[in-house]
Amino acid sequence: MSKPKVFVSRIIPAAGLDKIKAECEVDLWTEQMPPPYEVLTERVKGVDGLLCLLTDRIDGALMDAAGPQLKVISQMAVGYDNIDIAAATERGIPVGNTPGVLTEATADLTFALLLAAARRIVEGVNYIKAGEWKTWEPETLLGADLTGATLGIVGWGRIGQAVAKRASGFDMRIIAHSRSPISEDGVKQVDFDTLLAKSDFVSLHTPLTPETRHLINREALRKMKHTAILINTARGPIVDQEALYDALTDGTIAYAALDVTDPEPMQPDHPLLSLPNVTIVPHIGSASVQTRNRMAEIAADNLLAGLFDKPLRHQVKPK
Ligand code: DGY
Repeated sequence: MSKPKVFVSRIIPAAGLDKIKAECEVDLWTEQMPPPYEVLTERVKGVDGLLCLLTDRIDGALMDAAGPQLKVISQMAVGYDNIDIAAATERGIPVGNTPGVLTEATADLTFALLLAAARRIVEGVNYIKAGEWKTWEPETLLGADLTGATLGIVGWGRIGQAVAKRASGFDMRIIAHSRSPISEDGVKQVDFDTLLAKSDFVSLHTPLTPETRHLINREALRKMKHTAILINTARGPIVDQEALYDALTDGTIAYAALDVTDPEPMQPDHPLLSLPNVTIVPHIGSASVQTRNRMAEIAADNLLAGLFDKPLRHQVKPK
């Protein structure tokens, strides 16, 4: 029997790729940059399975270009806002993702950003490099304490909860906003406006949907404390970046630390990067060796399950 044909849109860790190579005829995109949409549309023609990343736009037209034999789409990420799930559902194509395994790594990165912002780590590094460190100074590079500060978590999914666990170890007060009820000792559920008004740190952990696009807009920023620090390790478009730039320059809020931007990649001449009160890293929330291996493995398992008519380990809820 001939092996199923699959397109894999980037080199992924061997933990996943080797499993796929053992069972499939693989067309692997080996370049650093993602395949442009038109190229992807060409390359998926006739494939039985597609393994994609969050940088690939997967819509109904692409699924149709692949052909009716397309049995499964497997995304190596937990987020799937790049995939038209309704279109996949209409065509009876299951979509897999990789939840769970990147929770701790993403919560760690969130906390790394939170601490870096609170204690002005990047400014400190730049201060030394600029030759400004002349002596110990009583009032230079003063940051904010975590102990006793209020952390507002927007979105009470796995990652939001893992961030809360870390925050409780730092004796922070934790409030959270979510559409579903929160029953966690030590966490107070509040409405969105209360969260904005009361938080010293606001951390975003909601998926990108039409409702959450620009959730942090001018109005929301105005409701935050002047001393507030905004952390975003979810998706860039949840924050209106122009409004954020203005809020950081006119003192509406104090600091922002972002792992995600809109668009990605952020160009080096982007105005936000010129501000001293911003730290931005290049979407590395899940970027630990162990986590990326686990993500690749699950993505491979989802792909193979779909190809061989088995239930996916993790299937995105069909629409
Ligand atoms: C995801 O999985 O959605 C992250 O953004 C990348 O790991």
